[in-house]
Amino acid sequence: MRNFNLLTLAAATALASFAAACAAQEVSASGTQAEPLFVRDAMQEEVNPAIVAIWDVTNNAYNDDGELDAALVSADQWESLARQAGVLAAIGDRMAAASQLRAASEGNWTTGGYEVPMDQVQANLDADPQGYRDMATSFAALSRNVAAAAAARDLQAATDLVGQMDSECSACHQQYWYAEQ
Ligand code: HEC
Repeated sequence: MRNFNLLTLAAATALASFAAACAAQEVSASGTQAEPLFVRDAMQEEVNPAIVAIWDVTNNAYNDDGELDAALVSADQWESLARQAGVLAAIGDRMAAASQLRAASEGNWTTGGYEVPMDQVQANLDADPQGYRDMATSFAALSRNVAAAAAARDLQAATDLVGQMDSECSACHQQYWYAEQ
């Protein structure tokens, strides 16, 4: 009986924290709709670290003859690839759902002389916010395909898709970051 109670308690605690995690997610998921999405902050804090971790796996999957070799990818690396692709899918979804797109948070607005000013990025975003959301939707879908290829341990598909992802980074940057004025 005592054990049973302890188990029930453990289960209840686990459920409670699971429910709390879900609630927190719900708040941030719906919150991002109403609250601004800060593009620069998302790029620096989420997108860039995730893609660096992804490249760390795919760039090291070539043997000495320059051929892809799945034997070079460890279980941890497959898992990392899937997880980081999931991170990119999530941020893609949030960018796609954002009702307000802000170039950067207030404290992150300052740029160096060689960087595109955030006022300019904001103007680019304001000129075609729906185009941005559409690109973010496609980026999220592609990220999910990378995650699926990683889950299936299909190295050729994963590297092809990561290559496509690089093009999607560039396409969006071309239009919304260093657009020709
Ligand atoms: C849907 C649009 C979009 C996609 C997709 C996108 N970015 Fe960005 N990214 C932007 C915009 C807009 C900026 C300019 C604002 C800024 O300076 O951060 C930016 C800026 C950046 C920056 C500069 C951050 C800084 O210090 O100012 C990095 C790094 C970056 N992106 C990496 C990436 C990578 C890598 C990918 C692909 C895996 C990617 N981005 C995909 C829109 C996008």
